[in-house]
Amino acid sequence: MFFKKTFCHFQGSSKSKIILNSRGLFNSKPNNKYHQHHLNYYLKRVPTRFCSSGYNSLFGYYSLFGSIKFRNLNSPSLSNRLNNKLYNSLNNNNYNNNVNKNLNNELFNNGLLNNNNHYHYHNNVKYVISQERKNYTKPIVGYWLLGISGLIFGIVVLGGLTRLTESGLSIVEWKPITGIIPPMNSSQWEEEFKKYQQFPEYKLQNYDMTLSDFKYIYFMEWAHRMWGRMIGIGFILPATYFGIRGYMTRSVTKKVIGLAGLLGFQGVLGWYMVKSGLDEKLISTPNSVARVSHYRLVAHLGSAFLLYAGMFLTGLQIIRDAKIINGTFPMDVAKILANPALKRFRLFSIGTAALVFLTSMSGALVAGLDAGLIYNEFPYMGQNIIPPKSELFSGDDINNLWRNFFDNPTTVQFDHRVLATTTLTVITALWLYSRRFNLPPKVRLLINSVLGVGCLQVTLGISTLIYMVPIPLALAHQAGSLTLLTTVLHLVHAMRKVPIKL
Ligand code: HEM
Repeated sequence: MFFKKTFCHFQGSSKSKIILNSRGLFNSKPNNKYHQHHLNYYLKRVPTRFCSSGYNSLFGYYSLFGSIKFRNLNSPSLSNRLNNKLYNSLNNNNYNNNVNKNLNNELFNNGLLNNNNHYHYHNNVKYVISQERKNYTKPIVGYWLLGISGLIFGIVVLGGLTRLTESGLSIVEWKPITGIIPPMNSSQWEEEFKKYQQFPEYKLQNYDMTLSDFKYIYFMEWAHRMWGRMIGIGFILPATYFGIRGYMTRSVTKKVIGLAGLLGFQGVLGWYMVKSGLDEKLISTPNSVARVSHYRLVAHLGSAFLLYAGMFLTGLQIIRDAKIINGTFPMDVAKILANPALKRFRLFSIGTAALVFLTSMSGALVAGLDAGLIYNEFPYMGQNIIPPKSELFSGDDINNLWRNFFDNPTTVQFDHRVLATTTLTVITALWLYSRRFNLPPKVRLLINSVLGVGCLQVTLGISTLIYMVPIPLALAHQAGSLTLLTTVLHLVHAMRKVPIKL
């Protein structure tokens, strides 16, 4: 039905400016400068799709300066008539009420209105404007996405615990639906244990495992998978509801669909990773340890981090956009962020976020190769800060020396040290650079937090290494990496320009 696309804006005279939008938020002449800024902001956001002389839009609003326009692509003549009537109704107070009544009737008769419409009052006249359902993302969608990102944070930590307790290979099948129910009686437990005994981890490392030990590792992996399912349901059901109720703009809907795809992919990747640790070939490979491919571990952790970042940033953006539209976004902050000199600082913080991500992925390589169990000292690695070349680049094939960066535990640990110290140096430089600018208090708090969490993360990393990867420290180090990424991403987001014409 076309009414979804209908939108009206009127600028009647120099004194009165009326914007009749889907929510009727800005519906009278601007009463102060602040309000005017928001009106200007609105009027800039015009999708070219619906309007031949408009601008492109973040929110998909349709408006035209200096005229009243109803858009009805199906019926241009109706649009014109409505526009004329609205124009008259707004300019001639004598027959405002009647015209408005007729206008509403006509809108109803032509299916442009329904009961969800918003009402707008001007000079005591009630105007009814059809709801632009897809052009407004409700803040609740943003809070929901932040909640999901919190659940993802939790599953990353739980995933770390699953890996550190060596529980990840205990469930040897992938049954997305029936796997919800764990073994319920002793014969079912025996059966599960027997299945596990067919696989390399049991044969190579856990041949003396008891049933009660098995129950413990089974429970860890089961909890990890259940948490994943919970995220899936907690995402899909509300997303469908919000989609049906029209709570999301078209662009946010697209993003949510993309995130749903990434969420599904994350589950598939998880199983793909587990499968690498169940491979029969591991038994025949000399000196092999049954563990998952470190490449797949990096992919699984990397895609979890990206998913987390996507949910977190989209959530923050929706809430911020709502504040801008509602007029509750602080104007002084918008003014500070409009400073062109901040462009470099903005790029610098985006670069820092990328570096934190890269360092985290190199950390996943360390974890995947158990490379934290060698060179348990800092800053030295053996006799020197840099280990001997022969250890860093081992192997006879000169063409394959680059593989040391991914497969050689010494090189991988060294890289992680280098990347981590570079990250902390860059964070410190960012913090020092930030002192040059007048920044909003929230941004200042975030940049201070980034420095604090960065120092903590490096301390945790060094402690994890020195104490030979004890579970609590390793877990705190893993959680620390996501906390650091969160603070940097929040900083990047808080630094975004506010699209209000000042
Ligand atoms: C900005 C700083 C750092 C970041 C973002 C970072 C990130 C990470 C991440 C994401 C992991 C993978 C955790 C997992 O999958 O369980 C990891 C593992 C590890 N990191 Fe770091 N790290 C940093 C600094 C350091 C430093 C300075 C050291 C010590 C020199 C260090 C030593 C380790 C060790 C030993 C592991 C393996 C732990 C395990 O096996 O569970 N990290 N790091």
